[in-house]
Amino acid sequence: MPPHSPAPFPAARLRRLRRTSALRDLVAENAVSAADLIWPVFIREGESVEEPIGSMPGVNRLSLDMLMRRATEAHEAGVGAICLFPYTAAELRTEDCAEAWNPENLTNRAIRMLKAELPDMAVMTDIALDPYNINGHDGFVEGEEIVNDRTVEALVRMALAQCEAGADILGPSDMMDGRIGAIRRSVEKAGFQHVAILSYAAKFASAFYGPFRDAVGASGRLVGDKKTYQVNPANRLEALRCVARDLDEGADMVMVKPGLPYLDICRAVKDEFGVPTFAYQVSGEYAMLAGAIERGWLSEAVMLESLLGFKRAGCDGVLTYFAPAAAKALRG
Ligand code: PBG
Repeated sequence: MPPHSPAPFPAARLRRLRRTSALRDLVAENAVSAADLIWPVFIREGESVEEPIGSMPGVNRLSLDMLMRRATEAHEAGVGAICLFPYTAAELRTEDCAEAWNPENLTNRAIRMLKAELPDMAVMTDIALDPYNINGHDGFVEGEEIVNDRTVEALVRMALAQCEAGADILGPSDMMDGRIGAIRRSVEKAGFQHVAILSYAAKFASAFYGPFRDAVGASGRLVGDKKTYQVNPANRLEALRCVARDLDEGADMVMVKPGLPYLDICRAVKDEFGVPTFAYQVSGEYAMLAGAIERGWLSEAVMLESLLGFKRAGCDGVLTYFAPAAAKALRG
């Protein structure tokens, strides 16, 4: 819908509705609420550990006891969902990635604990082999190649173990072809009809993931890059094809990733498909804002302003490392 063309001055004085905060709020077109946010957290072994991540000021790797404490606080502040990312011990990173579908791996233990103690908080997982792979890739590596179909079989095993543990939302982030369909079919067959899939559908081969790879301990290990499976940042139509394909294969929700440099994709996805659409404000975006806030170069207001941008671009929700801080800021 085109905006109403403005009447000539002084019939139209657009400042009339900007005069007081009550008037501004009355005509606000978009809003962020804590319930729109999914909080990505890094977990690790140990007890009472909150280990800072150098490139992500304010973000820590949490041992499971601290995860419970911080998740409870976030939930009390209104954050409705949490997404788990494991920091895997070096000896569990192997070529066959078997730890990925171990029912007792760190992620699966965390899911069980969260669902037992905070049943109302939605738990999302990440499905990809990179935290378990000796070479940091999301799929199996044979020679120079990241192999597709054998990786998909492993992702299915990983998904089933996460369903058994009680995951509410599966987040395949690997960008192999056919993974959504394969996961959807297996999950249905195993009796987990209720489990939702939030597909990392339009996931670009981005340099903004750098701090995340530090956080999960994959940066030093990654051999080469991920350009043969993640989407070229130059491509908008290809991203839309990915979304269409994942929806056909059984995704309930789709994600655009990274977020801020890709708001055009968010808007296009929402307009084209009208499905629940999420953006991931990734580690590098967080690092830019949090680093500048820490130095006093930017005020903390950029946090909510950036989240509002996602809503304006058509997103229903956002994965953001700011989730707990944003929820608190929204409370007043
Ligand atoms: C791994 C995965 C990545 C992120 C989420 N899942 C990194 C990558 O693809 O290399 C990045 C998230 C972030 O940067 O915050 N499959």
